[in-house]
Order: sequence, then structure tokens, then C-alpha cells
Amino acid sequence: MRITGTGHASMYIETAAGSILCDPWVNPAYFASWFPFPDNSQLDWDALGRADYLYVSHLHRDHFDEQNLRERISKDTTVLLPEYPTSELESELRALGFHKFIKTVSEEVVELPGGVRVMIQALTSPTDGPIGDSSLWVEDADGTRLLNQNDARPTDMSVFLKHGKIHAHLLQFSGAIWFPMVYELPDNAKRAFGKQKRERGFDRSLRYIDDVAADWVFPIAGPPCFLDDELYRFNDVFGDEGNIFPDQLAYTDWLAEQGRTNNIVLLPGSVAEVGGDGSASATHPVGDLREWFADKKEHLDAFRDRQKGRIAAEKATWAHPEIDVLATLRERFEPIMAQAEHIATGVGGPVRFDLTAPDSEEVVESIIFDFLERRIYPDRGDKVRYRFRTERRLIEHLLHVREVDWVNSLFLSCRFTAARIGQYNEYVYAFFKCLSEERIQYAEGWYAEQRPDDEDITMQGWTMQRRCPHLKADLSVFGKIEDGVLTCQMHGWKWNLGSGKCMTSVGHDIRSARAEDA
Ligand code: FES
Repeated sequence: MRITGTGHASMYIETAAGSILCDPWVNPAYFASWFPFPDNSQLDWDALGRADYLYVSHLHRDHFDEQNLRERISKDTTVLLPEYPTSELESELRALGFHKFIKTVSEEVVELPGGVRVMIQALTSPTDGPIGDSSLWVEDADGTRLLNQNDARPTDMSVFLKHGKIHAHLLQFSGAIWFPMVYELPDNAKRAFGKQKRERGFDRSLRYIDDVAADWVFPIAGPPCFLDDELYRFNDVFGDEGNIFPDQLAYTDWLAEQGRTNNIVLLPGSVAEVGGDGSASATHPVGDLREWFADKKEHLDAFRDRQKGRIAAEKATWAHPEIDVLATLRERFEPIMAQAEHIATGVGGPVRFDLTAPDSEEVVESIIFDFLERRIYPDRGDKVRYRFRTERRLIEHLLHVREVDWVNSLFLSCRFTAARIGQYNEYVYAFFKCLSEERIQYAEGWYAEQRPDDEDITMQGWTMQRRCPHLKADLSVFGKIEDGVLTCQMHGWKWNLGSGKCMTSVGHDIRSARAEDA
């Protein structure tokens, strides 16, 4: 099996059944904040676009690149479609002209011609990607197996492992979120949170690596790079241990410290050959990987210079002063709030958006989303649980394009600051990614169906429910206990096992007791 790196989470897999192009992201995403790192625009996307199969793992814009899909990918390719609860991914692909689909059933193997088998596991909780994230498993005719885990976080890997040893495991290791950078925190607190987050990302990936025990590991799906001058500081080139976007070399160096050296870095244009006998070899488009990464800042600066005009052009499209922001928010989102029974209860208070003039700190409008009254109104000086500050023109643009997912647009752009009282509240972000009837109905149904888990496990003198109260990770694999505090390494949430209280987010208590009392 041959795997060609095509940047970020993208790859071109050659099998006996033909080629599979995955997540072909090239153009800037999230208000021109994220760019693929390293630059992959020099690849021959027309040739890559003639792949036999296309797999778009989910709708996040660093995986679903509408422009590249429209302009460079053949519409005669056959789409391997994950089974999602909403039809958005299929609809968006059809709207772009794709018309051949293999609609997979989650976790069921599909036979392709030439003796190749594929399987897609679709994750479908409201917190998985933009309501959905997925992993692709491929078994070539000669028995070589690949798992493109992407940035998905499956809670049970046995679905892949039961088909035999995995030879190539491709997974995320770097951050892809806005926390803690955008939070209005003292620098030292921000650094400490960032450091924790960076370490947790590494730890989590190692859990997956050990669980899958593949012959070869390929770190993919990040980090992005930030080329706008306003965001350039987010790149990991300043020696900041709290930076959540470590690159592949930083990660493989860390893996080496953990005694793991069976990894292969894919740059855009790197080609790896992996065999079912445990063999692997790789060639790269640069002479020496370590030297290339040593010049990372120069590569970023040159990339930034090449993209300056493009960023300016995108910014010029954001403002829509003709839009009455408050009235439009009310008209479109109050009906969504009215349906958000579980989510509104979970948010449990008002959230404020302070909207500023372009490139300025000056607040020109403050708007309250009141999740108790389920209304949207001008700020009256209310005490709020969450506060976001962003440019008004970004909200104008979201309303102009009728964006139904502000996580997959505004929040991932990192073009905002935030403050909150108390713990992280997942419901706030769940609401802002469910700004359509279809999404809010699905998310509400999902929350309504959550049941406490019956099975208990005992670890280090504590008996507790086996499944994580957050997204049901198996705590016998992902749980770590220190001083009576349980950390689930899937997303890093913590619980005080003595009280059962979640220390990370409101709600989500755990059933736990000292083993001798249980
Ligand atoms: S599944 Fe998310 S923290 Fe456990």
C-alpha cells in the first residue's frame, strides 16, 4: 500500500482497488485564519483529484474544502460517505456536483473491486466535530491494513482491531481548538493551561497508539498555521511550552522520549510504502526533515508573504453593514433557542456577545443570548456566564451566509476573545453549532437519550462507572487517577471521585465510591 502525504489530514492512498483521496484541504479556512502546514498548494491537485474514491471525513473546513472540491476534484470520483445522522455532508457534496456515492453503514465493511475492503466508523454525538467525525479503515488485497483515525476520537478501537493487525495508523496529535489562547487570562495562567492541553494531546494520542499497536504511526491532522499578522503568534515558533500547536517533529521527538520510534512524518509530497509484513519506507520532498523543520519560521514567513493579498481580499468580503444584526439574530435564533430544551438548561444563564468595529477594541453593540428566558436582546448590564468579543463584521458575514455552525466558522477562526465565570460549559458551544432546525433537533434527541451507564470498574481503590460521563470513553483504558481525582484522557475532563462532581464542566457527575464502600 502506498500513502502519499498531501498535507494536514489529507492523504492519497493507493490500493489494488485504485486510489482514495482523503480530506483534500488547500484553501484557507475559518475566516482565512487556518492554512495547511506545510504549504501544499504546489501539489498537482488536478492529478490527485482524479482519484477513484474520495473520502471527506467530516464537515470541518480543514477537511471539507469547498473550493478545492469544486475546482480540482473530479465529480466522477466515487464518494465513500460516512453514515451521519444529518444529511448535510452528502447534500454539500451533491451541491458541488458529486453524484457517485457509496453510502457506508457505520462500522460495516464494504467490499471494493480488486479485493479491497473499507470501513468507516461515524461518531455522531453533538460534540464530535460538526455533529459528526469519522475514521477510515482500509484493507488492501494483500492484507495490508491502514487506519486513518484522522482527528476523530473513537471510544472503542476493537471495531478496527477485530479485523486483524493494523500496519499504518494515522492520527492527530496537535491541538485544533481555541482554548486557552483566546481566553482573557493572565499570561502565566494561559501558558499553564496551554501546557496541560499540549501534554494531554500527546498523552491521548499515545493511548491510541498503544491500543492500536500498529507497525507504523503517522502523525497527521495538524497543526494548521496562522498567516494573518493578527494571529501569527499562535504558531509554535516562539519556544512557548504552552503552545497547543506543536508540529510533527516536536511530537516525534516526544514519542522518542517515550521509547516509540516507529513513526513516519508525511510532508506534502512524502511517499510511504507500507507492507503487511511490517515493512515501511518513505521518501520526502526535502533532503533532511530535521533541517527543514529547523527553518520552520522562514518557511512560515515566506508562506505568509505569499498569502498576504489573499487574506486582505477575504477580509474585504466580511462586512455587510446592511444587516440588522440584533433583529436577524432574533428572527433566526430565538426559534432555535425555544427548541433547545436540554441545551438551554445546560447553558443555564445569559451569554453576551460584544461586537467591535473592524480592527478595533471599540465595542459598537452588545447582545445577550438569554438561555433562561430563551430570548435575544440588547445588553442591559446583565451578569453573564460567558462573554465573547469579536468584530461585528464577522457576525454580519455569518448571518449573510446563513452559517448554521459558528464553531466551524467563528470559534475555530480564533478571531475572538472570551471570558467565563465558572467551568467550561459544553452546552454553550453545542448551541452555537446547532443553529438549524435539523441540528438542534438531533442534538436535543441525543442529550435526551443519554442514560447512566450500569457497568462499574474498580481502579486504584475506587469503584466507578466504566463509561465516562462525558462521551462514554472506557475509563478502564482512558482513566487516570491521582489523589482521588480521575482524569479521562479522551478529552481531559476531571472528576473528584469522593464527591462524584465533575471539575471540568457543569453537570456530568460520575457514579463513584471508595472500593471498600461500594
Ligand atoms: S469521553 Fe470526553 S472526557 Fe471522557
